[in-house]
Amino acid sequence: MVSIRQATVQDLLQMQTTNLWCLPENYAMKYYFYHLLSWPQLLWVAEDFDGKIVGYVLAKMEEDESQPKHGHITSLSVLRTHRKRGIATALMRRSQREMQDVFDAEYVSLHVRKSNRAAFHLYSVTLNYEVNDVEKGYYADGEDAYDMRCYFKRDTVASSTTNNDPVEAMEKLEIAG
Ligand SMILES: CC(C)(COP(=O)(O)OP(=O)(O)OC[C@H]1O[C@@H](n2cnc3c(N)ncnc32)[C@H](O)[C@@H]1OP(=O)(O)O)[C@@H](O)C(=O)NCCC(=O)NCCS
Repeated sequence: MVSIRQATVQDLLQMQTTNLWCLPENYAMKYYFYHLLSWPQLLWVAEDFDGKIVGYVLAKMEEDESQPKHGHITSLSVLRTHRKRGIATALMRRSQREMQDVFDAEYVSLHVRKSNRAAFHLYSVTLNYEVNDVEKGYYADGEDAYDMRCYFKRDTVASSTTNNDPVEAMEKLEIAG
């Protein structure tokens, strides 16, 4: 059985190892510490019955005061052996809930590779993120990123100006780009 719990300092090495297995975007250990020390409520892990970390979400609050308060998903991954069981969905929902309850965030943002169909499905269909922008050549290998957002609370102005259909929004952005 896999359980979802808040990450501790003892988990950071396994989180980093999981990241190395799953994604080309890797981070120095001090960056994990920075997240844990700054926003401990936003780091969650999935732990298997034997104590092994099989998934994590690494998230933060953006500190740019010129923008509305919002969280950002720095990294998310689940080991290949444990995918398609709802683990990423559960990790994301826990971190997002804390962004709202603890930090009063208006929305959460993230970047995802255009080619990452699994993650795009998770964000757009399962979690209701919308494509906010396309960032050309965002990744080190030159691939474009979708800049995606999920609003926690909507006022009437926001909902009337935001496209709720991620595929339609994506197509419009591709045409524009
Ligand atoms: C993307 C990733 C985190 C998803 O983890 P997961 O635990 O398998 O996701 P879940 O089981 O919670 O699935 C969530 C949804 O995505 C769908 N999904 C998962 N993998 C999929 C795939 N390969 N293709 C299409 N849809 C997929 C699930 O069917 C589910 O859809 P539903 O809610 O409509 O039923 C995982 O594939 C992964 O770690 N990939 C490598 C790292 C990565 O890409 N991280 C994201 C970087 S932005």
